[in-house]
Amino acid sequence: MKVDGKHFRSIWRERDGWSVGAIDQRRLPHEFVVARLTSCEDAAVAIRDMLVRGAPLIGATAAYGMALAMREDASDAGLKRAYDTLVVARPTAINLKWALDEMRTTLAPIDSPERAEAAYARADEIVEQDVEINRGIAGNGLKLIEAIVAKKKPGETVNVLTHCNAGWLATVDWGTATAPIYLAHERGIKIHVWVDETRPRNQGASLTAWELGHHGVPHTVIPDNTGGHLMQHGMVDLAIVGTDRVAANGDVCNKIGTYLKALAAHDNNVPFYVALPSPTIDFTVDDGIRDIPIEQRSGTEVTDMTGRTADGRLETVRIVPEGSPVANYAFDVTPARLVTGLITERGVLKPDRASLAAAFPERIATAE
Ligand code: MRU
Repeated sequence: MKVDGKHFRSIWRERDGWSVGAIDQRRLPHEFVVARLTSCEDAAVAIRDMLVRGAPLIGATAAYGMALAMREDASDAGLKRAYDTLVVARPTAINLKWALDEMRTTLAPIDSPERAEAAYARADEIVEQDVEINRGIAGNGLKLIEAIVAKKKPGETVNVLTHCNAGWLATVDWGTATAPIYLAHERGIKIHVWVDETRPRNQGASLTAWELGHHGVPHTVIPDNTGGHLMQHGMVDLAIVGTDRVAANGDVCNKIGTYLKALAAHDNNVPFYVALPSPTIDFTVDDGIRDIPIEQRSGTEVTDMTGRTADGRLETVRIVPEGSPVANYAFDVTPARLVTGLITERGVLKPDRASLAAAFPERIATAE
């Protein structure tokens, strides 16, 4: 998608052919900075410190992390060390493990001298596959938006609510929740996005608003607590969010606060869709609420806020009294019964085991 009119992806192989470029998302929206990753450790730190974030991008970064590791040490021990280092970088998004398993399956049977080249080739495929999947999500989600347009009066705008950043910055390109929105915008459909700020790290306010703005999509940033009010007053036609892991039973894990939006949508008959690429499905987890590990992050994300001062400096301030304990659960799980449908690259599915299994049988096979 576009930044200042120029097409960007969130991650890429640099011109030297081996190092990896990625947009440093910790600096947005205030500064556009590109980081260069040159080692497996760089990739692990980038994921852990959220220089890159968002489930699909975490997976893509891990894949390149394995490739960087194979340049350093392509032995069996090196392969294991890289896998073990990267797989613990963040706990909730299953795309991380999916990408690492894909890399290991490709690399394990290959002789060490050929592993680095094969690793880059497979990582490139994972990256391209992400873009293709998101194009599929775009097309399938567009049909839902078109159905809403058909029911509206001519010239009326479709209002979509989204939470966190499931935009192109969270993937390689297009995004998941935003893919249908970008396609609708490209097709000339009048669309407007309510962007939840997404405390405590504000991925909505900082990232979703930034990318929609650069691509020219009309949007409004709202405090996290506003969605219910908007839904009660008919100001949201549908909600589309992303996800970090979908359990076999259709439960959806996503950024903290998603569950509350789903409850409000249910109470107000607002369709609540989850956009997901198939690598986000975890057929090894039967019950999302019980079994998906929820990342707990540093309390400073709750106690402190960073922003730009009027004279242009970036400054961090404390907003919680000294000594007050805080809790920082990064994700929650929305039960399948609150989800209207799962927008995947293979169609819009019911959020249940039978539909997921019928659409992605090959994923079940690898989970067994
Ligand atoms: O903690 P983050 O910023 O990695 O959380 C991101 C989200 O929760 C996204 O909504 C999710 O990864 C889907 S991204 C297509």
